[in-house]
Amino acid sequence: MLRKQFPLREGLVYLNAANVCPASLPVLDRHQHFLRDFEADPSFQNRAKFGPLREKVRARAAQFFGVTADEIAFTRNTSEASNTIVHGLNLKAGDEVVLVEDNHPSNLDSWKNHAKRLGLVLKIVPATQLIDSSDALAEKVEGALGPKTKVLAVTHVTSSSGLIYPVSRLCRAAREKGIWSHVDGAQSGGMLPVDLRQIGCDSYATSSHKWLMGPLEAGVLFVTSPQQKNVWPSIVSVGYSEDGKGGARFLEAYGQRDDARLAALDATFDFLMMVGMPAVEARIRQLTTRLMDQLSKNPNAQLRTNRKEGLYCGVVKVDLPAVPNLQVLDAKLYKEQGMAFSVTPAGPLRGIRVSPHIYNSLEQMDQVAEAFRKA
Ligand SMILES: Cc1ncc(COP(=O)(O)O)c(C=O)c1O
Repeated sequence: MLRKQFPLREGLVYLNAANVCPASLPVLDRHQHFLRDFEADPSFQNRAKFGPLREKVRARAAQFFGVTADEIAFTRNTSEASNTIVHGLNLKAGDEVVLVEDNHPSNLDSWKNHAKRLGLVLKIVPATQLIDSSDALAEKVEGALGPKTKVLAVTHVTSSSGLIYPVSRLCRAAREKGIWSHVDGAQSGGMLPVDLRQIGCDSYATSSHKWLMGPLEAGVLFVTSPQQKNVWPSIVSVGYSEDGKGGARFLEAYGQRDDARLAALDATFDFLMMVGMPAVEARIRQLTTRLMDQLSKNPNAQLRTNRKEGLYCGVVKVDLPAVPNLQVLDAKLYKEQGMAFSVTPAGPLRGIRVSPHIYNSLEQMDQVAEAFRKA
């Protein structure tokens, strides 16, 4: 029944949730409905409805992430949300920023670029996918926080191997030292139940078109109320106000937006709340565990994902060292069996990434394992 709520074409085994997820039909319908409504009558009078709709969505997003509506800004995606923090904090030459190597470029290269301009010092904690425990991972990152550290920018769940960083513990450690904590949640919003108050970060970014299964090109930036005064907006346009009364809204004054898309976000959160995030997480865990169990029976498959308790969910990275060119295999499996993955062709994280969501089945996990066995 759930699978029928997605427009995925017959025969497609879509396994690239970590990149982009299909929007559910209720989301698409709502987006189309409001887009037609907008284009049929673009007058100010007709568009007046979008203000209250956007606020309704903001309240929904806040409820979903366990925070207040005033702490939510709508961006285009995680990249824009994270860059708002990178460029918006009051930092100066010599200030230190602690990052993890497996951050996505939007939370890594963005800092490198900004560091060149401002003279920031970056401390990049090396990636260790196959570490022993969540505590060991936390200790590695905590060990990098020093007296000059002003920002800790980490990833909740990495896109490269699905490693879960212990963000609650890390954000607590940062807070105790007066360090700003920014969490990239592109791979956790919609995959895991995310309670931002419990995580305790100062800011969090996610994209609607990934695990949230919402419309393309919509994102959420959370900034905790007391810290909003410490962020400069990157873009200022109509609707910007400095009075501090609009909460995080001052970070989304980008000029004209696709109002219909933001209205469709409402159906995004409704859909996930109807299914229930604990059920979503459980299903994703079931799918990834099944796949890894099957892969462990294949002596030619090498898991790059950490299977230890608390360290994985949603993303399975597997190398097939006997296959000389993974891109050729990837193209073949798409053409012949309709399987859609993401591939890292070379390097320490060489492998095929399989990222299933609730529209996938256990049988599909078995099919993938079998396809890799025959590769
Ligand atoms: C961990 C992580 N952060 C950020 C992004 C960027 O997301 P977007 O392209 O929606 O900005 C991605 C995309 O794959 C990601 O995996």
